[in-house]
Amino acid sequence: MVDALRVGIAGIGTVGASVVRVIADKQAELARQCGRPVTVTAVSARDRGRDRGVDLSAAHWFDDSVELAAKADIDVFVELIGGDEGPARASVKAALEAGRHVVTANKALLARHGVALAEIAEKKGVLLNYEAAVAGGIPVIKTMRESLAGNTVNRVFGILNGTCNYILTRMEAEGISFDACLKDAQRLGYAEADPTFDIEGNDTAHKLSILTSLAFGTRIAADDIYLEGISNISQADIRAAAELGYRIKLLGVAQRTDSGIEQRVHPTMVPTASVIAQVHGVTNAVAIETDILGELLLSGPGAGGNATASAVVGDIADIAKSRPGFQHGPVFGKPARELKPYKRAKMRAHEGGYFIRLTVHDRVGVFAAVAKRMADNGISLESIVQRAPETNGSDIKTVILVTHETTEAAVRKAVDAITKDGHLTDKAQVIRIERAD
Ligand SMILES: NC(=O)c1ccc[n+]([C@@H]2O[C@H](COP(=O)([O-])OP(=O)(O)OC[C@H]3O[C@@H](n4cnc5c(N)ncnc54)[C@H](OP(=O)(O)O)[C@@H]3O)[C@@H](O)[C@H]2O)c1
Repeated sequence: MVDALRVGIAGIGTVGASVVRVIADKQAELARQCGRPVTVTAVSARDRGRDRGVDLSAAHWFDDSVELAAKADIDVFVELIGGDEGPARASVKAALEAGRHVVTANKALLARHGVALAEIAEKKGVLLNYEAAVAGGIPVIKTMRESLAGNTVNRVFGILNGTCNYILTRMEAEGISFDACLKDAQRLGYAEADPTFDIEGNDTAHKLSILTSLAFGTRIAADDIYLEGISNISQADIRAAAELGYRIKLLGVAQRTDSGIEQRVHPTMVPTASVIAQVHGVTNAVAIETDILGELLLSGPGAGGNATASAVVGDIADIAKSRPGFQHGPVFGKPARELKPYKRAKMRAHEGGYFIRLTVHDRVGVFAAVAKRMADNGISLESIVQRAPETNGSDIKTVILVTHETTEAAVRKAVDAITKDGHLTDKAQVIRIERAD
């Protein structure tokens, strides 16, 4: 029998404990599939006394994850601590520098330091695997890095945050407010006590930045992402979207354009009949559009101990199967040193359809004035609807516009002009429409 693959795990929380459990429960299958046993020989976390519901008695305990990474008798270091600095970064770096393979689920770390870490891994001839970092259990990294060789990707987009999708799904299904949905999501453990990172789109942005690098062979540019979260989506938007044949999703989109690459995260209207619109609740989905394949959509569980452990164990199994001395493929599909600088397309140049919801004073001429501002900016309208005031005697009504393909710059100018005209009673709501099959 070939020697066992010795695995050291730092971070025995939700994901780490699930990984330990899966490796123990699936010992025989893993040994058959990998041609050698896979054993957890070392672990690290903060509190040694905590019961984690898994048997760690056979593993050597390290108080210091960096010491585990650099010095333990292991072949693979698995980082499941989280965070883009501190022990996560230090221990991954130490493991790579010591010539150990690394597996991580840490999107924040990769979004910030992925390219630098990839350079070390490639120099040392070891693997840095991170399937669980984007869309949890969905095998999107392997698909983009390996299965789509030869394809040119034109666009990649997806629902990358289960918390946001859960909230938007319930808002639509039950007609309840954003705040009520968020509270419920927190109670059920789908949202953190401080949900800002999820609902303002940062988590989606981290994942998107990794997909962008894989799709376009560019250096990761997590700070160059246009970002809008879902906290200002109201029932009025959800209802209007449904009436117009759309559903609102928080999408991360990376797209090649004539002026560069667009990376954007924002609430998006997708046609109700499209496949991505059918992705409900905490489920994630990633759509990849290429020249050879057309559109591929992968969907499945994007978070949770088991789903994430499935991806982590898959990454460990790949290492167990790899031959000693074999030159591994580059971490982001192309050698890290050859990744091109990211050229950001200006958001104002973004082209697409727009949904615009205006609340206006119910006065003669307002409707015509709104339509004129659109025409002044060369925006052609697919539809313009005005609604009677919802409450009797109110002088406030809603105007909903859907534009044909136009530019972000034109829409911003038109909305600015309408705002300055003094007809609005509230800030205009603008939601981009995304083409999806
Ligand atoms: N949870 C998910 O569904 C999910 C999905 C995809 C990706 N991920 C990623 O997976 C990673 C882990 O997430 P998680 O949800 O499992 O987090 P978690 O439950 O908070 O667990 C974090 C673990 O790290 C340990 N830790 C913290 N500081 C440490 C240090 N200085 N040295 C050693 N260990 C330390 C903690 O130790 P103690 O237990 O002793 O406090 C805990 O065991 C993160 O990068 C996350 O983004 C999570």
